[in-house]
Amino acid sequence: MFNFEYYTPTRVVFGKGAADKVGQLVKAQNCKKVLIHYGGGSVKRSGLLDRIKASLSAEGVQYVELGGVVPNPHISLVYKGIELCRQEGVDFILAVGGGSVIDSAKAIGYGLATPGDVWDLYEHVKTATGCMPIGTVLTIAAAGSEMSNSSVITKEEGGVKRAYDDDLSRPRFAVMDPELTMTLPDYQTACGCTDILMHTMERYFTSGGNMEITDSIAEGLMRTVMKNAVILRDEPKNYDARAEVMWAGSLSHNGLTGCGNNGGDWATHMLEHELGGMFDVAHGAGLAAVWGSWARYVMKDCLPRFEKFALNVMGVEPGETPEATALKGIEAMEDFYRSIKMPTNMKELGIAPTPEQVATLARMCAAATGGQIGSAKVLKEADMAAIYKMAL
Ligand code: NZQ
Ligand code: ZN
Repeated sequence: MFNFEYYTPTRVVFGKGAADKVGQLVKAQNCKKVLIHYGGGSVKRSGLLDRIKASLSAEGVQYVELGGVVPNPHISLVYKGIELCRQEGVDFILAVGGGSVIDSAKAIGYGLATPGDVWDLYEHVKTATGCMPIGTVLTIAAAGSEMSNSSVITKEEGGVKRAYDDDLSRPRFAVMDPELTMTLPDYQTACGCTDILMHTMERYFTSGGNMEITDSIAEGLMRTVMKNAVILRDEPKNYDARAEVMWAGSLSHNGLTGCGNNGGDWATHMLEHELGGMFDVAHGAGLAAVWGSWARYVMKDCLPRFEKFALNVMGVEPGETPEATALKGIEAMEDFYRSIKMPTNMKELGIAPTPEQVATLARMCAAATGGQIGSAKVLKEADMAAIYKMAL
């Protein structure tokens, strides 16, 4: 067991009608003007944006708005947001959307409160000295950005997708109404469930030092998400299933499932970020497409964890050897992915990287991570290339 710090400063307001409380929540922040930041239009079509504006107006809160955040959000819009906020005297950012909108809001927040080019943070050539406060109204259970300290931004030029983690960006509040997620396309619901599982698995598969209590929480969370992902596949409007998944999304990425685990593995995420940068794939689907190959590649180096996962999470019957049990667990997870129409390789994801592109993906992943990733097994550039190849 490793020492750890657990810091979750975000106030969570959860349940039906929660979005209408946003005016009160923002007003309590004592700000002068708010930027309402949102994506490509789902919040307009659903009427949520109008509800948010009405709630702010009812409390006398002034606002400006900036929409247009795309999945795998772009640095160019972040620059635009920083400029707009400076011109308008904005001192609080309200992200209404999913991980992409929240991450874009965090980047704008950094850009306003940290001198210099905000992209330098994502290149890890400097650290943030401040971040303008952020609140969120979540519309998709997936990335967990509503409680996380992470932000992932893509520089369009060269397709470079990079993460920057800093507690300065943890949102002040997260409004979570499961009903808001009912307008999601089935594909996005499944991508979200996959990402939630992955945030927990990344912390579960480590080379040692795990805590029993953390494992129990993680295993319960994963079983709950898989069960409710299947319910949502068949009944997308099931409120209770939406609620289970939404809360799991926050808990899977606010640090709870990593306490005592020394940071986790994160190799699958690092491998996916390169796919997202180069091919603009949906994050959850990209994770599902590489996970099985990663798992087979590292399994022997982390066998007790894979065996435990197979028995306690996937519920398989023990095999004749620990390896056989572990492999059954990996296959069961891939069966689950297929059952919710998630890909288990890049072909199913709809991309076909050339050998040169595979080499570039591995080179960029290594360059972005100081040359190595992983805890279950430490992976160098050649290992990354081998996993991408296995996942074709
Ligand atoms: O843009 P709109 O029109 O809103 O459509 C979005 C988008 O097309 C749509 N959507 C969201 N809520 C909806 C809805 N459509 C209908 N009804 C609703 N209620 O869903 C699509 C995906 O949205 P996005 O925000 O991209 O999804 P997600 O939350 O999965 O975020 C993905 C991004 O987060 C990053 C990923 O890399 C990716 O860039 N991540 C952020 C993390 C963090 N900050 O902690 C951790 C994650 O590991 C992840 O890397
Ligand atoms: Zn993720």
